[in-house]
Amino acid sequence: MTEKKQVPVITVDGPSGSGKGTVGQMLAQKLGWHFLDSGALYRITAFASQAQGIDMTDETQVAQVAKDLDIKFIPQKNAPPSVSLAGKEIGDALRTEEIAELASQVAVMPQVRAALLLKQQAFARLPGLVADGRDMGTNVFPAARLKIYLTANPEIRAQRRYKQLKEKGFDVNLARLLEEIQVRDARDQARTVAPLKPAVDAHILDSSGLDAQEVVQKVLDLLDSKTGSIK
Ligand code: C5P
Repeated sequence: MTEKKQVPVITVDGPSGSGKGTVGQMLAQKLGWHFLDSGALYRITAFASQAQGIDMTDETQVAQVAKDLDIKFIPQKNAPPSVSLAGKEIGDALRTEEIAELASQVAVMPQVRAALLLKQQAFARLPGLVADGRDMGTNVFPAARLKIYLTANPEIRAQRRYKQLKEKGFDVNLARLLEEIQVRDARDQARTVAPLKPAVDAHILDSSGLDAQEVVQKVLDLLDSKTGSIK
Protein backbone atom coordinates (compact mmCIF):
# COMPACT_ATOMS: atom_id res chain seq x y z
CA MET A 1 0.00 0.00 0.00
CA THR A 2 1.64 3.25 -1.12
CA GLU A 3 -0.80 5.49 0.67
CA LYS A 4 -0.77 6.23 4.39
CA LYS A 5 -3.85 4.23 5.28
CA GLN A 6 -5.30 6.43 7.97
CA VAL A 7 -5.30 9.63 5.91
CA PRO A 8 -8.51 9.99 3.90
CA VAL A 9 -7.87 11.03 0.31
CA ILE A 10 -10.25 12.23 -2.39
CA THR A 11 -8.78 12.11 -5.88
CA VAL A 12 -10.09 14.38 -8.63
CA ASP A 13 -8.69 13.47 -12.04
CA GLY A 14 -9.61 14.62 -15.50
CA PRO A 15 -8.48 16.53 -18.58
CA SER A 16 -7.59 20.25 -18.75
CA GLY A 17 -10.49 22.58 -18.14
CA SER A 18 -12.75 19.91 -16.63
CA GLY A 19 -12.89 22.09 -13.52
CA LYS A 20 -10.91 19.75 -11.29
CA GLY A 21 -8.64 22.51 -9.93
CA THR A 22 -11.50 24.77 -8.87
CA VAL A 23 -13.58 21.87 -7.57
CA GLY A 24 -10.61 20.33 -5.75
CA GLN A 25 -9.75 23.57 -3.99
CA MET A 26 -13.35 24.23 -2.98
CA LEU A 27 -13.66 20.70 -1.64
CA ALA A 28 -10.44 20.98 0.35
CA GLN A 29 -11.59 24.29 1.79
CA LYS A 30 -15.03 22.95 2.74
CA LEU A 31 -13.60 19.85 4.39
CA GLY A 32 -10.62 21.66 5.96
CA TRP A 33 -8.30 19.20 4.20
CA HIS A 34 -4.96 19.70 2.45
CA PHE A 35 -4.89 20.19 -1.30
CA LEU A 36 -2.46 18.86 -3.89
CA ASP A 37 -2.34 20.43 -7.35
CA SER A 38 -0.18 17.69 -8.91
CA GLY A 39 -0.18 19.41 -12.32
CA ALA A 40 1.76 22.24 -10.67
CA LEU A 41 4.60 19.80 -9.92
CA TYR A 42 4.88 18.89 -13.62
CA ARG A 43 4.64 22.57 -14.54
CA ILE A 44 7.35 23.48 -12.01
CA THR A 45 9.58 20.71 -13.34
CA ALA A 46 9.16 22.12 -16.86
CA PHE A 47 9.61 25.70 -15.66
CA ALA A 48 12.77 24.93 -13.63
CA SER A 49 14.27 22.82 -16.44
CA GLN A 50 13.68 25.63 -18.91
CA ALA A 51 15.11 28.21 -16.49
CA GLN A 52 18.25 26.09 -16.06
CA GLY A 53 18.61 25.88 -19.83
CA ILE A 54 18.76 22.09 -19.88
CA ASP A 55 17.75 19.98 -22.87
CA MET A 56 14.03 19.35 -22.34
CA THR A 57 14.24 16.07 -24.25
CA ASP A 58 16.93 14.65 -21.94
CA GLU A 59 14.92 12.49 -19.55
CA THR A 60 17.72 11.92 -17.04
CA GLN A 61 18.45 15.64 -16.70
CA VAL A 62 14.78 16.63 -16.42
CA ALA A 63 14.23 13.87 -13.83
CA GLN A 64 17.17 15.23 -11.83
CA VAL A 65 15.51 18.65 -11.82
CA ALA A 66 12.29 17.00 -10.58
CA LYS A 67 14.19 15.20 -7.78
CA ASP A 68 15.94 18.38 -6.65
CA LEU A 69 12.87 20.65 -6.67
CA ASP A 70 12.78 22.86 -3.60
CA ILE A 71 9.17 23.94 -3.63
CA LYS A 72 6.59 25.28 -1.24
CA PHE A 73 2.87 25.69 -1.77
CA ILE A 74 1.45 28.56 0.22
CA PRO A 75 -2.34 28.16 0.61
CA GLN A 76 -4.44 31.17 -0.49
CA LYS A 77 -8.06 31.82 0.34
CA ASN A 78 -10.30 31.33 -2.72
CA ALA A 79 -7.33 31.08 -5.09
CA PRO A 80 -4.79 28.45 -6.15
CA PRO A 81 -1.88 28.08 -3.71
CA SER A 82 1.01 30.36 -4.52
CA VAL A 83 4.17 28.47 -5.44
CA SER A 84 7.71 29.24 -4.38
CA LEU A 85 10.71 27.64 -6.02
CA ALA A 86 14.00 27.79 -4.06
CA GLY A 87 12.45 30.47 -1.87
CA LYS A 88 11.34 32.62 -4.81
CA GLU A 89 7.67 33.10 -5.65
CA ILE A 90 6.91 32.01 -9.25
CA GLY A 91 3.41 33.48 -9.59
CA ASP A 92 1.47 33.19 -12.82
CA ALA A 93 4.53 32.23 -14.90
CA LEU A 94 3.54 28.60 -14.26
CA ARG A 95 0.09 29.11 -15.75
CA THR A 96 1.06 29.93 -19.33
CA GLU A 97 0.10 27.63 -22.21
CA GLU A 98 3.81 27.32 -23.05
CA ILE A 99 4.54 25.82 -19.63
CA ALA A 100 1.41 23.63 -19.82
CA GLU A 101 2.66 22.22 -23.12
CA LEU A 102 6.19 21.62 -21.77
CA ALA A 103 4.71 20.06 -18.61
CA SER A 104 2.74 17.60 -20.70
CA GLN A 105 5.92 16.72 -22.64
CA VAL A 106 8.00 16.03 -19.51
CA ALA A 107 5.05 14.18 -17.93
CA VAL A 108 5.52 11.44 -20.56
CA MET A 109 8.95 10.58 -19.08
CA PRO A 110 8.84 7.62 -16.67
CA GLN A 111 11.87 8.87 -14.68
CA VAL A 112 10.16 12.23 -14.14
CA ARG A 113 6.96 10.56 -12.96
CA ALA A 114 8.97 8.33 -10.62
CA ALA A 115 10.82 11.36 -9.20
CA LEU A 116 7.52 13.12 -8.44
CA LEU A 117 5.64 10.12 -7.01
CA LEU A 118 6.88 10.27 -3.41
CA LYS A 119 6.69 14.07 -3.37
CA GLN A 120 2.99 13.78 -4.23
CA GLN A 121 2.30 11.02 -1.71
CA ALA A 122 3.93 13.13 1.02
CA PHE A 123 0.99 15.54 0.72
CA ALA A 124 -1.30 12.97 2.36
CA ARG A 125 -1.54 14.35 5.88
CA LEU A 126 -4.34 14.45 8.43
CA PRO A 127 -7.09 15.46 8.52
CA GLY A 128 -7.22 14.54 4.81
CA LEU A 129 -6.14 15.37 1.28
CA VAL A 130 -7.89 16.36 -1.91
CA ALA A 131 -5.51 15.54 -4.79
CA ASP A 132 -6.11 16.83 -8.30
CA GLY A 133 -4.39 15.61 -11.47
CA ARG A 134 -4.39 12.95 -14.16
CA ASP A 135 -3.31 9.80 -12.31
CA MET A 136 -4.20 10.48 -8.68
CA GLY A 137 -6.77 7.67 -8.48
CA THR A 138 -5.00 5.22 -10.78
CA ASN A 139 -1.44 5.56 -9.62
CA VAL A 140 -0.53 7.96 -6.83
CA PHE A 141 -3.34 7.24 -4.34
CA PRO A 142 -4.79 3.89 -5.47
CA ALA A 143 -6.42 3.34 -2.05
CA ALA A 144 -8.18 6.73 -1.98
CA ARG A 145 -11.48 6.84 -0.11
CA LEU A 146 -13.27 8.49 -3.03
CA LYS A 147 -12.18 8.80 -6.64
CA ILE A 148 -13.72 11.29 -9.02
CA TYR A 149 -13.07 11.56 -12.74
CA LEU A 150 -14.30 14.90 -13.98
CA THR A 151 -14.99 15.48 -17.66
CA ALA A 152 -16.65 18.15 -19.80
CA ASN A 153 -16.92 18.54 -23.54
CA PRO A 154 -13.82 20.04 -25.20
CA GLU A 155 -15.50 23.32 -26.25
CA ILE A 156 -16.62 24.04 -22.70
CA ARG A 157 -13.20 23.14 -21.34
CA ALA A 158 -11.53 25.49 -23.84
CA GLN A 159 -13.94 28.28 -22.85
CA ARG A 160 -13.13 27.78 -19.16
CA ARG A 161 -9.40 27.89 -19.82
CA TYR A 162 -9.93 30.98 -21.98
CA LYS A 163 -11.74 32.75 -19.16
CA GLN A 164 -9.15 31.76 -16.55
CA LEU A 165 -6.23 32.89 -18.70
CA LYS A 166 -7.94 36.15 -19.72
CA GLU A 167 -8.59 36.91 -16.06
CA LYS A 168 -4.88 36.52 -15.44
CA GLY A 169 -4.19 38.99 -18.23
CA PHE A 170 -2.87 36.52 -20.82
CA ASP A 171 -3.46 37.17 -24.51
CA VAL A 172 -5.22 33.99 -25.68
CA ASN A 173 -7.17 32.76 -28.67
CA LEU A 174 -10.13 30.42 -28.12
CA ALA A 175 -9.72 28.32 -31.28
CA ARG A 176 -6.02 27.83 -30.60
CA LEU A 177 -6.71 26.93 -26.96
CA LEU A 178 -9.16 24.25 -28.08
CA GLU A 179 -6.52 22.77 -30.40
CA GLU A 180 -3.82 22.89 -27.71
CA ILE A 181 -6.08 21.25 -25.15
CA GLN A 182 -6.92 18.45 -27.58
CA VAL A 183 -3.23 17.84 -28.37
CA ARG A 184 -2.38 17.68 -24.65
CA ASP A 185 -5.34 15.41 -23.86
CA ALA A 186 -4.30 13.02 -26.64
CA ARG A 187 -0.72 12.95 -25.34
CA ASP A 188 -1.84 12.49 -21.72
CA GLN A 189 -4.16 9.63 -22.73
CA ALA A 190 -1.70 7.89 -25.03
CA ARG A 191 1.41 7.80 -22.83
CA THR A 192 2.47 4.40 -21.58
CA VAL A 193 3.14 5.36 -17.95
CA ALA A 194 0.16 6.50 -15.87
CA PRO A 195 -2.01 7.71 -18.75
CA LEU A 196 -5.03 9.93 -18.18
CA LYS A 197 -7.98 7.58 -17.63
CA PRO A 198 -10.58 6.96 -14.93
CA ALA A 199 -9.63 4.48 -12.20
CA VAL A 200 -11.86 1.40 -12.38
CA ASP A 201 -13.49 2.47 -9.12
CA ALA A 202 -13.81 6.17 -10.04
CA HIS A 203 -17.13 8.02 -10.20
CA ILE A 204 -17.34 9.76 -13.55
CA LEU A 205 -18.94 13.21 -13.39
CA ASP A 206 -19.64 15.34 -16.44
CA SER A 207 -19.35 19.00 -15.42
CA SER A 208 -20.47 20.40 -18.83
CA GLY A 209 -23.79 21.78 -17.60
CA LEU A 210 -22.81 22.34 -13.97
CA ASP A 211 -21.10 25.10 -12.07
CA ALA A 212 -18.29 24.34 -9.64
CA GLN A 213 -20.58 24.61 -6.61
CA GLU A 214 -22.92 21.96 -8.06
CA VAL A 215 -20.04 19.59 -8.77
CA VAL A 216 -18.68 20.09 -5.24
CA GLN A 217 -22.10 19.23 -3.82
CA LYS A 218 -22.25 16.04 -5.91
CA VAL A 219 -18.82 15.01 -4.62
CA LEU A 220 -19.80 15.76 -1.01
CA ASP A 221 -22.95 13.66 -1.48
CA LEU A 222 -20.85 10.80 -2.81
CA LEU A 223 -18.46 11.14 0.12
CA ASP A 224 -21.38 11.12 2.49
CA SER A 225 -22.85 8.01 0.96
CA LYS A 226 -19.45 6.31 1.37
CA THR A 227 -18.62 7.40 4.89
CA GLY A 228 -21.96 8.55 6.25
CA SER A 229 -20.08 11.26 8.11
CA ILE A 230 -17.67 14.01 7.11
CA LYS A 231 -19.04 17.15 5.54
O1 C5P B 1 -3.32 20.11 -14.56
P1 C5P B 1 -2.30 20.90 -15.35
O2 C5P B 1 -2.84 21.52 -16.57
O3 C5P B 1 -1.59 21.89 -14.47
O4 C5P B 1 -1.22 19.81 -15.78
C1 C5P B 1 -0.20 20.12 -16.71
C2 C5P B 1 0.29 18.83 -17.35
O5 C5P B 1 0.92 18.01 -16.36
C3 C5P B 1 -0.82 17.94 -17.92
O6 C5P B 1 -1.13 18.24 -19.26
C4 C5P B 1 -0.25 16.55 -17.80
O7 C5P B 1 0.52 16.21 -18.91
C5 C5P B 1 0.69 16.63 -16.61
N1 C5P B 1 0.14 15.98 -15.42
C6 C5P B 1 0.30 14.62 -15.30
N2 C5P B 1 -0.12 13.97 -14.18
C7 C5P B 1 -0.72 14.65 -13.21
C8 C5P B 1 -0.95 16.05 -13.31
C9 C5P B 1 -0.50 16.69 -14.46
O8 C5P B 1 0.84 13.98 -16.20
N3 C5P B 1 -1.10 14.00 -12.11
